[in-house]
Amino acid sequence: MSLRTRLRADTRSRHDTVDAMMEPYDVSLIHGYTSFLLTHLLALAHLKARALRGNAADMEADLDQMVGNLVVDLTELGQPAATSFGTALPQCTELHPDALRYVLLGSQIGLSHLQKRWQSAHDPRVRSAGAFISHPRDGDRWRTLCARLSQMPSNGRLPDRIVEDAQTVFDIYIAAARMNSSCLESINDTEFARH
Ligand code: HEM
Repeated sequence: MSLRTRLRADTRSRHDTVDAMMEPYDVSLIHGYTSFLLTHLLALAHLKARALRGNAADMEADLDQMVGNLVVDLTELGQPAATSFGTALPQCTELHPDALRYVLLGSQIGLSHLQKRWQSAHDPRVRSAGAFISHPRDGDRWRTLCARLSQMPSNGRLPDRIVEDAQTVFDIYIAAARMNSSCLESINDTEFARH
């Protein structure tokens, strides 16, 4: 078994949890879409502030880009860009960059599916806030990463650390999804019902 196979196996139940938590977010409707963006912002702002220590310029740039796009979108939707809930999320300092690469580049696969749903939105407010979801994705980076992880052994101190750190990144998303409902109090549900 390679590290690539182990990463998929050992994060599968967490992916299923994230998937189930995000499934109710209908990204073609303003409430679901705002929840979706806010969950990503909570998780990614936390990772951007804490996860790396200048040792992975590619992921630093990705996190800057993603957080910047999320703030633009949430501002467009009139939501406060809540980026300061870090202490309530699982701690993460100096995560292994390959753990972050695996989870964040992998999550782009799910985003591509959701982008199609978002494109079907009739609400112009939803369509006006597409910086994050429609940001171009580079499948080559994911394939290159998978090829490299496929060459790495699945057991040992380094593989254990990468798997544990990838699980931590998923746990941050899970905690962010739990938290975000309280950030949405300012949105009026009756307004959603009209769209
Ligand atoms: C509703 C939200 C999501 C949906 C519908 C979704 C869906 C998917 C799908 C269809 C795949 C491809 C599975 C395969 O080819 O075997 C995938 C892969 C992946 N997703 Fe998600 N995803 C979602 C959210 C996320 C989030 C938030 C994360 C990160 C925290 C994430 C991380 C990953 C990873 C790492 C992979 C690669 C798995 C592997 O091949 O090793 N996904 N996702």
